Amino acid sequence: MNLETAGKIWECSLILGRYLIKQSYFNKIELANKNVLELGCGTGILSIILGKQGCNVLATDLPQVEALCEQNISKNNIASQVKFKILDWNQSKHKTDCLIDKKQIDILVASDPIYNQKTFDSFFAQLKILYEVIPNKPILYLAHKYRHDEFDKILEDKIEETELWFKKVDSEHLDDLWKSQQCVVYKIGKF
Ligand SMILES: C[S@@+](CC[C@H](N)C(=O)[O-])C[C@H]1O[C@@H](n2cnc3c(N)ncnc32)[C@H](O)[C@@H]1O
Repeated sequence: MNLETAGKIWECSLILGRYLIKQSYFNKIELANKNVLELGCGTGILSIILGKQGCNVLATDLPQVEALCEQNISKNNIASQVKFKILDWNQSKHKTDCLIDKKQIDILVASDPIYNQKTFDSFFAQLKILYEVIPNKPILYLAHKYRHDEFDKILEDKIEETELWFKKVDSEHLDDLWKSQQCVVYKIGKF
């Protein structure tokens, strides 16, 4: 099975996980018992980190990623907190299926989901649909690895085109040990 980019842990997932833990430690965000939806979970590392913090997480990715992610969930004994479901941003039939057993989603997370221009449109089309169907319009925490200036400009334009607001998290709020000049955490929300 060709896992492509899903087969390794990307540093953004650790940076985002540690940032959210730090936010929770300083009571800026509540994680325990919150329903979290992760887009493009890959190995499932971020979902597992959040599951260990007491979140109920729905980790989603392409069909070929299911076996690896399920295995990691099981090896980390976190199946009570973290479930995997297929959610392919290019398949409209999957677009809301994943929400059936999660009427309310409190937090959206995505770690390095956009790594080439092809993924821009499908990721943002997916996001648009999610914001249409999730009633409480949760914040999306998006960790993004810097690739080049033009790419970042397209990302920020795309966020605005999707009628979402964004804020870059100041690096002083990231975990001291887990930060990188190459990785930006965005807070994104619906106007
Ligand atoms: C760079 S990897 C990041 C993986 C993981 N979030 C991490 O940070 O370790 C990008 C992820 O996006 C997923 N992805 C790409 N296109 C997708 C699509 N159309 N639908 C759902 N997931 C997709 C890939 O399978 C991969 O797991």
